[in-house]
Amino acid sequence: AQDKLWGGRFSEPTDQFVEAFTASVGFDQRLYRHDIEGSCAHARMLARVGVLSDGECEQIQQGLGEILAQIEAGDFQWSVSLEDVHMNVEARLIERIGDVGKKLHTGRSRNDQVATDIRLYLREAIDGILAEIRRLQQGLLDLAEREAETVMPGFTHLQTAQPVTFGHHMMAWFEMLERDHARLLDCRRRVNVMPLGSAALAGTPYPLDRHYTAELLGFEGVSDNSLDAVSDRDFAIEFCAAGALIMTHLSRFSEELILWASAQFGFVDLPDRFCTGSSIMPQKKNPDVPELVRGKTGRVNGNLIAMLTLMKAQPLAYNKDNQEDKEPLFDTVDTLAGSLRAFADMMPHVQVRAEAMEAAARSGFATATDLADYLVSKGMAFRDAHEVVGRAVRLGVETGRDLSQMDLQELQRFSSVIQDDVFKVLTLQGSVAARNLHGGTAPVQVRERIREARTRLDCG
Ligand code: ARG
Repeated sequence: AQDKLWGGRFSEPTDQFVEAFTASVGFDQRLYRHDIEGSCAHARMLARVGVLSDGECEQIQQGLGEILAQIEAGDFQWSVSLEDVHMNVEARLIERIGDVGKKLHTGRSRNDQVATDIRLYLREAIDGILAEIRRLQQGLLDLAEREAETVMPGFTHLQTAQPVTFGHHMMAWFEMLERDHARLLDCRRRVNVMPLGSAALAGTPYPLDRHYTAELLGFEGVSDNSLDAVSDRDFAIEFCAAGALIMTHLSRFSEELILWASAQFGFVDLPDRFCTGSSIMPQKKNPDVPELVRGKTGRVNGNLIAMLTLMKAQPLAYNKDNQEDKEPLFDTVDTLAGSLRAFADMMPHVQVRAEAMEAAARSGFATATDLADYLVSKGMAFRDAHEVVGRAVRLGVETGRDLSQMDLQELQRFSSVIQDDVFKVLTLQGSVAARNLHGGTAPVQVRERIREARTRLDCG
């Protein structure tokens, strides 16, 4: 048992299986950079308050720097018997610099250490994900601008409803991502609080300058309760929840791209380099990227449930249960980063088939509501107008024609108030242009929203 940093009170070595079962180094070694950064800051603070001499602090920092370089070069031997990243690094430090290394853990516990490491790691991960969201949003803005006038059928129940512009549709995706971005930023504020100084659970008798350590590590503040700080992982759960919403949005985008890329819709062409073929059917070009993103939503949702369930009913303060927070958290970070990257790379290169969209919009009686509104403008009550247009649509269905393909006499059979000016409102362009209010699909409105969005993004 003597090779353990905590071996003193044990009379026999750890069971081999138990050693492997309880170890986390296989996955928490990902935290090495943040662990070392936290240790360096802790050592500098200890020197500042006189717990370490400047020379000791110097030696510790030097040793930690060498370990960092060694890990980065791939020369570090991780040991399962040293359990986790924290004890691997600390044991190596002692091995390298001797007894001075044994002073690093003064006034600290792995409990506040790991909580700090995760927060440092997650803060950085959030910043990367925020940047990817912005990159995808930029791509959507460019696409929306290019296709601000392009008309497509808008759907409800996946049935043709009313014409909308493709730009408007892209801006709907943009808005979802805007809220995702805001949610992550909000979450980041609660992540960016430093637990160090909480020690195992009760705080520590050493005169630590917690605010100094926090400043060195870029934390916005220090935790106010040691029991809470070492035990709760709500900040990580919150991130996983925000992540589940991001993936939910991406899964919706994915579903639409998959439908639109099908021969039956033919609204878009995905770039070949984002698709794969079939080993048997030579004609196939499969939209793998959106399909996979749609599928990966499942694991991110699962990770959220795992985190919530892990935290549920844990008594204060730290429990080993919390070691299980890392794999779902890391997996959520990786999946989000990868999915957002794929979308941000792909969207600017999606080819829009404007003619196919317009043709689809023309074939589904998408302007039926416009005809009803036209009748209202001629003095008819909306309910009556609805009925009249419904009958006209029925004739269209029976004869295989859109409303705009009927002549004036034919339309007048349904209502005598219909005049020559009706054909203007039956065009797709007339229909979208008429929705000219804030949030509406009219190209002028879409351009206005794009302009505002660009200003917002430029201002950070
Ligand atoms: N590997 C542990 C974790 O991930 C570090 C904290 C362990 N603390 C303890 N008292 N056993 O949570």
